[in-house]
Amino acid sequence: MKILAFAASNSRQSINGKLVRYALQRVEALAPNAETKVLDLNDYEMPIYSIDRETEDGIPEEAQRFYDELGAVDAILISFAEHNGAYTAAYKNIFDWVSRIDMKVFRGKPVLAFSTSPGPRGGATVMGTFTNAAAIFGAELIGSLSIGSFGERFDSESGLPTDSDLAQQIEDTLAALSGK
Ligand SMILES: Cc1cc2nc3c(=O)[nH]c(=O)nc-3n(C[C@H](O)[C@H](O)[C@H](O)COP(=O)(O)O)c2cc1C
Repeated sequence: MKILAFAASNSRQSINGKLVRYALQRVEALAPNAETKVLDLNDYEMPIYSIDRETEDGIPEEAQRFYDELGAVDAILISFAEHNGAYTAAYKNIFDWVSRIDMKVFRGKPVLAFSTSPGPRGGATVMGTFTNAAAIFGAELIGSLSIGSFGERFDSESGLPTDSDLAQQIEDTLAALSGK
């Protein structure tokens, strides 16, 4: 099983990136045959989407590469950062460009969605945005988990959850990947 994962953030210190890395460690422990790959949104930075740019210059090659990466795997794991109650601009821009190649961005693949934030809501609003529209964009949503208070619930040195309940919740969410 090939799994593609990314944090929907362009922060080099992204807490969603840390969550993605922890989740993939667990996937690799539970399913040693899983092939995992992590994308960095900074590798897909493009001009802000505009219909005029698209008409004049076409779709940037970064958008095509991102689309191709999504198409090459069996399942996708995303952890969403929330900016002002919405997707980060970095993710939204990639999403907008890729949706112009194919509105079914996720091509019917199983998608596991996480979100985390320093505050208690865990990015629940951006998670709602993603989950409400997942089917429209071709995502088969197989699970979701918002984790609040990241700094208190993950050890900054080890990157591991500080309580076993949270570790179990993550494990239960990841279990949806088995057999995909
Ligand atoms: C412009 C901006 C807007 C933000 N808006 C929200 C918000 O609406 N909700 C929230 O929980 N956190 C918000 N935050 C705090 C982010 O959750 C925090 O920066 C977090 O680390 C982002 O995730 P990341 O580290 O994976 O990029 C905001 C941060 C920035 C810089």
